[in-house]
Amino acid sequence: MRIRRCSVLWLEPREVAHVELAGLLAGGTGVVSRIQWQAHAPQLPEAVDVDAEDVALLGELSPRDWSASAPLRARHGAARVRRLLQAGLLVGSTKPWSAARALDERFRDQHWHGLAATWHAASRWDGIDAAGEVEEAGLLTAEGLRATYGAPPAVAHDRGPAEARIGLPRAARTALDALLDARATCRNFDPSVALPLAQLAQVLERAFAARGQVQGADDFDVLKRTSPSGGALHPTECYLIARHVDGLPRGLYHYRPLEHALQPLPFDSADVADPAAYRAQAPRDPLDFLAWIAVGGQQWFAEAAALCVLAPRFHRNYWKYRNHPKAYRVCILDIGHLSQTFLLSATELGLGSYVTAAINEVDLERAFGLTHWVDGPLAICGIGPRAGRMTTYELDPNRKAWPRG
Ligand SMILES: Cc1cc2nc3c(=O)[nH]c(=O)nc-3n(C[C@H](O)[C@H](O)[C@H](O)COP(=O)(O)O)c2cc1C
Repeated sequence: MRIRRCSVLWLEPREVAHVELAGLLAGGTGVVSRIQWQAHAPQLPEAVDVDAEDVALLGELSPRDWSASAPLRARHGAARVRRLLQAGLLVGSTKPWSAARALDERFRDQHWHGLAATWHAASRWDGIDAAGEVEEAGLLTAEGLRATYGAPPAVAHDRGPAEARIGLPRAARTALDALLDARATCRNFDPSVALPLAQLAQVLERAFAARGQVQGADDFDVLKRTSPSGGALHPTECYLIARHVDGLPRGLYHYRPLEHALQPLPFDSADVADPAAYRAQAPRDPLDFLAWIAVGGQQWFAEAAALCVLAPRFHRNYWKYRNHPKAYRVCILDIGHLSQTFLLSATELGLGSYVTAAINEVDLERAFGLTHWVDGPLAICGIGPRAGRMTTYELDPNRKAWPRG
């Protein structure tokens, strides 16, 4: 058999701490730290603990060229080589390793930049109640943040003397100003009011529909959307958790930009974590719980009538920008543009809306059948009718979203 290293690998000497009873009893903190090597191979579900000799072995191998396995086994031991093959950090040339080899080759064919892939994989959350953690740490309010972290950097950044500044003319206000000023992140949805399907459809059409189509070359179609997209490739897909939309059964959907249509997707509550393992506030209904855990336990966002999960098909971009150090950044920036159009379109209809990246990607991947390095989610935009009263804080200094409140 021949062996090579998996295509992308980052070895992290992570400092880990644990509490030792003897130290505690001796009157100290008992906290002992040590270095634990972690192998990040982004196509795997999570990082793998390895030891210093594993690191040495992995450092001997090419990700492209095959090496004979016998000398490797002689140097490092057959058990070690087998363990690293089983973990997916090494790739074997023979039949027993064909599934792992196919996975590695499929990942290689996506053309990720190695560091971007590592960052993307390592920044995913699985079942994190982020809102609960933030609240427990007292970081939910501005006062709590100020008390814990001190003052933030100043709101305006000075780069020279005030007298040298050139004042700019103010433009006459137009309808666009009114719309831009009315947009505010909504943290107060009315869960008792359904979102009309026509309104959801209007926002989806404005943000995600194909507004035109051209053929760049044979088998190379290019979409026109209202937002720009790096390379005109528009990799971002929109998946929907429809909780309370009038005229649309509750469930999961995939938006089709060419036909402006929703493709129903299967929803299996077995793919959703057990709400009983979370705070009492976590909804018990599986679809509502999926919405809640999707936004990291942020109840104020989970109550949106519909949640749009934005997930690029990375290879649509990486097909052109192969192994490119900027390509992942472009995918993220694309989502920023799409979400702003989404928010403004919702605002125009008098609806509440938000965007968040504080999402549990792994829970969403499970529910929608996505693979993080193929079409993993990066953000969620929520939409729904606003509540009549503000119970969760919103930044609306000009009282546009809350004229009366
Ligand atoms: C990328 C991004 C992520 C955000 N994530 C969250 C979030 O997780 N929770 C939240 O309450 N607000 C989130 N927000 C909303 C911001 O807190 C909000 O935009 C900010 O407070 C300014 O208020 P405004 O949007 O009403 O102008 C996010 C905004 C952006 C652009």
